[in-house]
Amino acid sequence: MKRLEVRGLQIGFQTDQGWIPAVRDLSFDLGVGEILGIAGESGSGKSALALALMGLLPSNTQVRGKVLFQGGDLLQNNAESWRKIRGSKMAMIFQDPMSSLHPYLRIGDQIIEPLLIHGLANPKQAREQALACLAEMGISDPKTMLQQYPHECSGGMRQRAVIAMAVLAKPDLLIADEPTTALDVTTQREVLIWMQKWIRASGASLVFISHDVGVLSEMADQLMVMYLGQGVERGSLVEVLKRPHHPYTDGLLRSLPAMQDRNAKHFYSLAGHVPPGGSIPSGCSFHPRCPAVQDLCRTTEQMLEINQERWTACMRAKEGSWKSS
Ligand SMILES: Nc1ncnc2c1ncn2[C@@H]1O[C@H](COP(=O)(O)OP(=O)(O)OP(=O)(O)O)[C@@H](O)[C@H]1O
Ligand SMILES: [Mg+2]
Repeated sequence: MKRLEVRGLQIGFQTDQGWIPAVRDLSFDLGVGEILGIAGESGSGKSALALALMGLLPSNTQVRGKVLFQGGDLLQNNAESWRKIRGSKMAMIFQDPMSSLHPYLRIGDQIIEPLLIHGLANPKQAREQALACLAEMGISDPKTMLQQYPHECSGGMRQRAVIAMAVLAKPDLLIADEPTTALDVTTQREVLIWMQKWIRASGASLVFISHDVGVLSEMADQLMVMYLGQGVERGSLVEVLKRPHHPYTDGLLRSLPAMQDRNAKHFYSLAGHVPPGGSIPSGCSFHPRCPAVQDLCRTTEQMLEINQERWTACMRAKEGSWKSS
């Protein structure tokens, strides 16, 4: 069953230099209880997508397409409709916990606020739920933490507070944009394991954004790779990791530390850079960096459906494999 359907999503930012296309004609589905990992280098449009899903894009933005969630198109929501569903039916976890926490309010009051605003619990029940949630996430003294102000807590504690704030209302859709990037490796692992367990137990769906395919490979059921505002590959995590159908995915995977040959003289890294916003190459937008580029790729782009669950923006995938070149 589908929880979210994104169709032909386009996001453009108006700047002094003109329009910057941040997301270009993006379509994908997210199933009930599914974790969709979204990977891609900086500037590929991951955060713009997340903000569009939550209705939080700044006013210098133009958005087109459809985002279907629970029978309605989120892009048609007015402020009142957003207020009703944001924090209850859907919630977001940002990379920087300080952007979600008010510096002068106690952690406890902030965590329980969504429950109170949406009338989902009384203050006593909300506090109990917050305590239980923080304890489950490995906070040793959650009672004290609820009384503290954000600056009195470590980065790891603050991020767990933000996660608790997002999940306590039991949203059906959770969007996490680099939720653990700022944490040390051990804390990151703990938090990720907890989030995965929470998704499995609650039946919620998660869009998990990270530039780190290694993190996604431990979390996600499905993987979508973005490049310059487009989804260039999508499929089940296992399938994509085993047999990437796009040279960009292949490059990202080969750049992973775990995939590197320890005896090699040089570590593999993707050649070239993401061009600056606004300058989209012709044809397949990855062609200037593609190790298997052919003439047709410079002028033509094509989305190839391998099966219902699996697509790639590399037209050469149909020849068997671009790797054979
Ligand atoms: N508010 C804004 N105004 C103008 N341009 C923007 C704005 N936000 C993002 N952009 C541009 O849109 C494009 C996509 O940015 P976005 O932040 O979505 O990328 P990202 O994939 O999240 O990158 P990162 O991995 O660095 O977080 C970039 O070219 C960026 O410069
Ligand atoms: Mg981002």
